[in-house]
Amino acid sequence: MGKTYKWGIIGPGNIANKFTEGLQILPNVEKYAVASRSLEKAETFKTKYGFEKAFGSYEEMLKDPALDVVYIATTNNLHFTHTMMCLEAGKAVLCEKPFASNLSQVKQMIDKAREKQVFLMEALWSRLIPSMIQFKTQIENGIIGKPFLFQCDFGFISPFDPYKRIYNPELGGGSIPDIGIYPVFTAIYLFGKPETIQVASVPAPTGTDRTTSILFKHKNKEISMLTSSFEMLLENEARVYGEKGSLKLHRMFHMPVPLSFRANDGKETYIPLEMVGNGYNYEAAEVMACLDKGLIESPAMPFSLSLELMSTLDEIIEKAKNG
Ligand SMILES: NC(=O)c1ccc[n+]([C@@H]2O[C@H](COP(=O)([O-])OP(=O)(O)OC[C@H]3O[C@@H](n4cnc5c(N)ncnc54)[C@H](OP(=O)(O)O)[C@@H]3O)[C@@H](O)[C@H]2O)c1
Repeated sequence: MGKTYKWGIIGPGNIANKFTEGLQILPNVEKYAVASRSLEKAETFKTKYGFEKAFGSYEEMLKDPALDVVYIATTNNLHFTHTMMCLEAGKAVLCEKPFASNLSQVKQMIDKAREKQVFLMEALWSRLIPSMIQFKTQIENGIIGKPFLFQCDFGFISPFDPYKRIYNPELGGGSIPDIGIYPVFTAIYLFGKPETIQVASVPAPTGTDRTTSILFKHKNKEISMLTSSFEMLLENEARVYGEKGSLKLHRMFHMPVPLSFRANDGKETYIPLEMVGNGYNYEAAEVMACLDKGLIESPAMPFSLSLELMSTLDEIIEKAKNG
C-alpha cells in the first residue's frame, strides 16, 4: 500500500457527505480536516464522520502543514477561487465539477498547478467509475461495430426557486453546468471534442438554463443527442447505437450502474462488472494513486480533458443564451 493521505474538505454541504462516504472505505485515507464558513457546521460534519479537526475558515485549514489533499465541494462560482487558494498553499486539489466558471479560469488553475508543481484534478467522478470505463472499452473493442449515435439525458423535477443553487446565476446555476455536464462529458470521453454544436434551450426566470438539448457531430461522424432538464424526469440513461446493436449504461448512467448490450435481433446481454462503494471512492483512489507516483495531473482525467469539457460547455452556454 502507498502512503496514507490526510484529506481536508472545503464546503461540507450535500455532496461532501456522499464524497466522504466513498472516501472513508479507502485504506490509505485519514479523515483529517473539515472547513466551513461556519465553525459549528464544520464541527457537526467532523463529528458525523470522525474527522480530526474542524475549521471555521477555509484559509485557516490551508495553513495546517499536515494537510495533504483538499476536496473542494463549494458552489460552482467558488471553484476557481478555492482551487487557487489550495494550490497557492501547496495542497493537492480534487475540485468538484464544473471545474470552474469558464475556460479562462480553468487555464489559470492548470497554470498554477504547473507553476507550484501541485496535483490538480476535476472531480468528474463518472470518469473513474468501472461501468463508465467499461462503456468506452466495450465500444473500442467493437461490441457494437461502428458507433453511429449517442443518446443521453439527465433530468429531474426541481420546482423553481430563485434562491436554490441550481437556479441562482450568482452561484453558477443552470442545468448545463450542473447536470448537462455529464452527458456532455460522456460524449467527449467516447468520441472526442465535437466538431459542430447545436443547442436549443429554455431559461428559468432567473436566466439560467432550465432545459437544454444539444446536438454534436464528432470527428468520425458520430452524432450525440443530449438533454438536461430541471423540469422533467428523463430516462437518465446513456446508449450508443452502432452497426451491430447498442450498448446501454442503465438509469443514472453517471453513477455505478449495470451495462448491457442489445444485439440487433433484440437479445440483451449484461456485461459483468465489479464495483465497490458508492462511486466517489474511485476518484479519491485515483488522486492518491497519482500522488503516490508524484504526478501533478491524472492520466485518467488529464488537464486536456477538463479543458475540452470546459471549452465545450462555454460554447453550449453561449449558444443557450440565444434560445
Ligand atoms: N459529483 C456529484 O455527484 C455532484 C452532485 C451534486 C453536486 N455536485 C457539485 O458539488 C458542488 C456543491 O454542490 P452541493 O449540492 O453540495 O451544494 P450545497 O450543499 O448547496 O453547498 C455546498 C457548500 O457550498 C458553500 N455554499 C453554499 N451556498 C453558498 C453561498 N450562497 N455562498 C457561498 N458559499 C456557499 C457552503 O460551504 P460552507 O459550509 O462553507 O458554508 C456549502 O456547504 C457543486 O459544484 C455541484 O456542481 C457534484
